[in-house]
Amino acid sequence: MLRSHTCNQLNTDNINETVKLSGWVKKIRDLGSMIFIDLGDRYGITQLYFDKNYFSDEEYKKIKSLNTEDVIQIQDGNVRKRPESNEKIFTGEIEVEVKQFELLNKSEITPFEIKSDIDVKEDLLLKYRYLDLRRDSMRKNFIFRHKVAQTVREYLNSLDFVDIETPALMKSTPEGARDFLVPSRINKGKFYALPQSPQTYKQLLMVSGFDKYYQIVKCFRDEDLRKDRQLEFTQIDIEMSFVERDDVLSIAEGLMKKIMSDFSNEELQLPLDRMTYADAINNYGSDKPDRRFAMKLSELTNEFGKSDFKVFASIAKENGYVGAIFLLGQLLSRKQTDGYSDYIKEIGGSGSAFTKYSNSKLEGGISKFISDEMINAFKEKMEINVEGTVFYVADKDREKAQNLLGALRLKLANDFKLIDKNKNDLFWVIDFPLLEWNDEDQRYVARHHPFTSPKKSQEYLLDTEPHKIIAEAYDLVFNGNEIAGGSIRIHNKDLQKKMFKALNIPEKEAESKFGFLLEAFKYGAPPHGGIAFGFDRLVMLLLGLSSIRDVIAFPKTTSGLSLMANSPSEVSDKQLQELNISIKKS
Ligand code: AMO
Repeated sequence: MLRSHTCNQLNTDNINETVKLSGWVKKIRDLGSMIFIDLGDRYGITQLYFDKNYFSDEEYKKIKSLNTEDVIQIQDGNVRKRPESNEKIFTGEIEVEVKQFELLNKSEITPFEIKSDIDVKEDLLLKYRYLDLRRDSMRKNFIFRHKVAQTVREYLNSLDFVDIETPALMKSTPEGARDFLVPSRINKGKFYALPQSPQTYKQLLMVSGFDKYYQIVKCFRDEDLRKDRQLEFTQIDIEMSFVERDDVLSIAEGLMKKIMSDFSNEELQLPLDRMTYADAINNYGSDKPDRRFAMKLSELTNEFGKSDFKVFASIAKENGYVGAIFLLGQLLSRKQTDGYSDYIKEIGGSGSAFTKYSNSKLEGGISKFISDEMINAFKEKMEINVEGTVFYVADKDREKAQNLLGALRLKLANDFKLIDKNKNDLFWVIDFPLLEWNDEDQRYVARHHPFTSPKKSQEYLLDTEPHKIIAEAYDLVFNGNEIAGGSIRIHNKDLQKKMFKALNIPEKEAESKFGFLLEAFKYGAPPHGGIAFGFDRLVMLLLGLSSIRDVIAFPKTTSGLSLMANSPSEVSDKQLQELNISIKKS
């Protein structure tokens, strides 16, 4: 070994010992006839002391010319007590008096200082990600992530789950995002897809009788990136046989209890709260509500249907939705309310209206259209009793209006710092609709995936009114983020066929896409269900971070680029020829 100790190991117990250390030069203090260097590694810092008298002139010159981030080895050093100790670091009571050292590798001047608090553009950090990761603040995220993964494995192993790897080159998956395709050289003109999740494989493993499966696994989705989304991300993927919904929820709750207790020092009270999808949308305008602040949505469709405010009245009459939220304690200026109306336009709505409530009256904005009778109804519904600003949003599409209002609710909470960040809120959203309308394709699509089971009592609706069916599907919401989702699956091939029919997937297409799964269901598929956690998201939230990139070692930018490796990149003509692919000139 090039070292006898790490840079965070020595203390007064080691005084007078001869040691070998290796690491990076972190700080240099040159006092002329003596030089102090902070030597650092993953573990910590140790102070080195170089005395001019021990070294030849040539050697001392070499020491003097050292720069930060050079890699050096102390081949012979003596541990001694420091005259004045530094209580901030573990090794603060000692220093190593260097007798012999070697420069192992010189470093060029780094593009940014390798220290925790720096003000540098993220693009530069991503270009030199390996240096970014050398910073303590980043390194600790990955050590934390590693520990959470260990806890997950320990928990699932202890419950008899089996970790089984599934293919990365597979047939297109049904998760509903766009697939990443990989051309096959051997089978020209054909493509593999990278897994959006191991969904079909984990179900096949249940048919194989593995009973309890898990995998901490990479998934790939070609979708637009956000702060909590990457093209490739990691799931804790779980599937179980002979279970009902509450069995899966209880396993997932147990896992979260252990994680929260180990990593957030918090004892979760189980079972967790459950909220139906309908309540989530009606009260919060979101299927992943942030409940750490109030400001619930109030529906005012009926009230506005009878009002003189034509825009809202006509939306109400057309079976649309008019709703409002009350921002308590804030009387906003016209400029501010216009800003929020613009925000609603930016996210696809046609703006928001407002009124202020002060001195027991509604004022400004659309207040002239609001009768006393309406005011009383509003006050009761929105629990308005002190001053504040009411925002109104309406749309012909009910759920769209609720989502817009939900987004405004979140924006106001962030802008006015209404979220109690010291609070953790973890609960289930259950009873999702089985299907959702897809405007682009003008048809119903599966909300989770086509293998999600309808509630047993509603199976009969599949042939007639499938859009009314509630699914045995569930999401876990953590501080307003979806951290896990899953369902009980259809395991009966006839029911599965009906589901494809309800989704307007022709038999032939179903056969070519999922034939292998339907075939497997012929041979004694057990009832089964499962869940998958977004592992990166979970770690990000446990660390109180807001970008998933901070917990992925080599992430892509929001435009899908690796600034470090410069990918995606062009490939050679020879590679393309082998794949029988030609690129169209745009
Ligand atoms: P779902 O699509 O809900 O379910 O994904 C499960 C969880 O994965 C996380 N997640 C992501 N994290 C980062 N970047 C992304 N692009 C991304 N997409 C999803 C979320 C989400 O809750 N096969 C089903 C699970 C099942 O039914 O068992 C599935 O993949 O936290």
